[in-house]
Amino acid sequence: MVQERITLLQNKRIVLGVTGGIAAYKVVDLASKLTQAGALVDVVMTAAAREFVTPLTFQAVTGRAVHTALWGMNSGGLPTHIAHIGLGESADLLLIAPATANTLAKMAAGLADDLLTVTVLAARCPLLVSPAMDGGMYEHAATQENLATLRRRGVLVAEPEEGRFASGLVGKGRLPETQTLIGAVRHTLGRLGRLRHRKIVITAGGTREPLDPVRFITNRSSGKQGYALAQAALDLGAQVVLVSAARTLLAPYGAQVVPVETAEEMCAAVVEHMKDADALLMAAAVADFRPQTIAEQKIKKREGSSDGLHLDLVRTPDILLTVSEMHKKAQTAPVLVGFAAESEHLLENAASKLRRKGLDLLVANDIRSSDAGFDVDTNRAVILDKNGGQEVLALASKAVIAESIMQRVGDLMIRP
Ligand code: C5P
Repeated sequence: MVQERITLLQNKRIVLGVTGGIAAYKVVDLASKLTQAGALVDVVMTAAAREFVTPLTFQAVTGRAVHTALWGMNSGGLPTHIAHIGLGESADLLLIAPATANTLAKMAAGLADDLLTVTVLAARCPLLVSPAMDGGMYEHAATQENLATLRRRGVLVAEPEEGRFASGLVGKGRLPETQTLIGAVRHTLGRLGRLRHRKIVITAGGTREPLDPVRFITNRSSGKQGYALAQAALDLGAQVVLVSAARTLLAPYGAQVVPVETAEEMCAAVVEHMKDADALLMAAAVADFRPQTIAEQKIKKREGSSDGLHLDLVRTPDILLTVSEMHKKAQTAPVLVGFAAESEHLLENAASKLRRKGLDLLVANDIRSSDAGFDVDTNRAVILDKNGGQEVLALASKAVIAESIMQRVGDLMIRP
């Protein structure tokens, strides 16, 4: 998989501390992907980590010197010539992955007997640890107490996952996948962004309207643009509730995901979360109609008959309209953003939707082109505002489109 550049990570200096667990081999991929995303990754390895992976491996994927010795002088372009001070001095983040039980214990006790633990004490940047260990070591009271101590001191912890260990045992203690760890890094770096303390509700995916226990009516929406919007909002420090009808995408790290299936379920979840939210982005493709009744048993064709099936469909609630009217009544004014996927008269239809639903912005997509709209990774769009303004977003990845939209939403939320 090609790692896209990530705006938030451009030229961020990340010190990646690698300690001695088998998961050390997995963070070679992490170091590579962070570098490809635009970060400057300085790897510090403990002696035990070097039993699993060599410094040369990390040097090859980061293109930067790897640090191992406490007593060495720094020759690797760090701000001071004393390596253990220089490493922590100007870093934006110190990430320890995998963090073994031993290193966590040393950190909790304030011990500093190698380059990594000295750097931990000298660093002034946020500290994120990703514990990974076999057997019951993670759940052991000693490890849990050490983690509680570190959390109390402001250390952020990326929870390990459950699954199979190298030993063959099963339990909690596996290092999360690279994309999850990149999410944790983004969440840590973004949390003080311009949208901190703002709650944003985002919907994604195509709703499913059941006909019977095995069939449903849905649409071609993948949820990718909505998930990219959630990630862009998280990168700016927002609290994100992602009301999702998409089922297969990896949830952005730090988002509260509320899974829904039908338009009615989505409406109820959005109304609930919009009571105290500052913005709503309705990127979901909500079904406009649902079957009037849901058959209790599977609908059967009659043997020997060529009769068709007649379905009675009724309207679903218009979620944006419902929220817009709810806030008019309460005299509150969250930022409301709609999306319009049209196959003809794009801008005329979009402008009328913006007025009718009482929106601040409407993002119009032309779904006729094959490189934009449903299911693909790229998009092109026009943002309409309620004063008649138009901003054209040229063909770009959904992540880049999401950042542009979120900047506009941010400008509206932080009104002078
Ligand atoms: O379906 P339509 O083109 O009207 O969708 C425009 C916007 O309204 C989208 O943002 C969509 O999520 C939202 N919508 C809604 N409730 C519906 C249908 C659409 O909020 N029942």
